[in-house]
Amino acid sequence: MSGSIFEDVDHYIDSLFTPDEDVLSDVLQRAAAAGLPDIHISPGQGKFLYLLAKMSRAKRILELGTLAGYSTIWLGRAMPEDGELTTIEIDPVHADVARGSLKAAGLEASCEVVVGSALDVLPGLTGPFDLIFIDANKESYPAYLTHAVRLTRPGGLILADNVVRRGAVLGNSMDPAVIGAKAFNQALASHPQLEAIVLQQVGRKGHDGLAIARVKDAG
Ligand code: DHB
Ligand code: MG
Repeated sequence: MSGSIFEDVDHYIDSLFTPDEDVLSDVLQRAAAAGLPDIHISPGQGKFLYLLAKMSRAKRILELGTLAGYSTIWLGRAMPEDGELTTIEIDPVHADVARGSLKAAGLEASCEVVVGSALDVLPGLTGPFDLIFIDANKESYPAYLTHAVRLTRPGGLILADNVVRRGAVLGNSMDPAVIGAKAFNQALASHPQLEAIVLQQVGRKGHDGLAIARVKDAG
């Protein structure tokens, strides 16, 4: 292992705080064997989500974009025993892999994978959720945010992966993913019901960012 100093430090941090573990490494192996893209969050990013969920005592969690269930496991493990997580995945093959991941992690009873486009599924969901993690189709991030605000309790958290896109949010890219991230960040920054920040991240997953928002208390 030798990449940039940022990658090397990321591996150093992960080796300290996210010790190798069969369940999670098996998930990544099975995902690769099934041909899924290697765009899972990193172990350190997973630990960060886990800590945010624990610190906010999240008991009802919603995830948009399951992929292989890697981030789902981190979030699912942060919940108390009576916690419930719903994760939405558009690709039925990915959803199958994710169900296998959750079973391997012993989380199949508390974490449900719903197959469908998040934009189709979200209108039928009832809140409130304590934490929503957005990691699905980047183009639809602004629309996801509208639903997330409706579905998150006051004091709850809305998190979103991939909102910096290697810095492309600075320019005038015509990439729909970048356009989506920029519109999302703008909406997040100016939303009257939210207090938010974007955390720039560099490391083994390249250069990107995680948005963190808290829904203001009622009144
Ligand atoms: C990419 C990374 C992600 O975390 C994701 O959710 C989607 C795409 C990427 O690097 O292309
Ligand atoms: Mg992502």
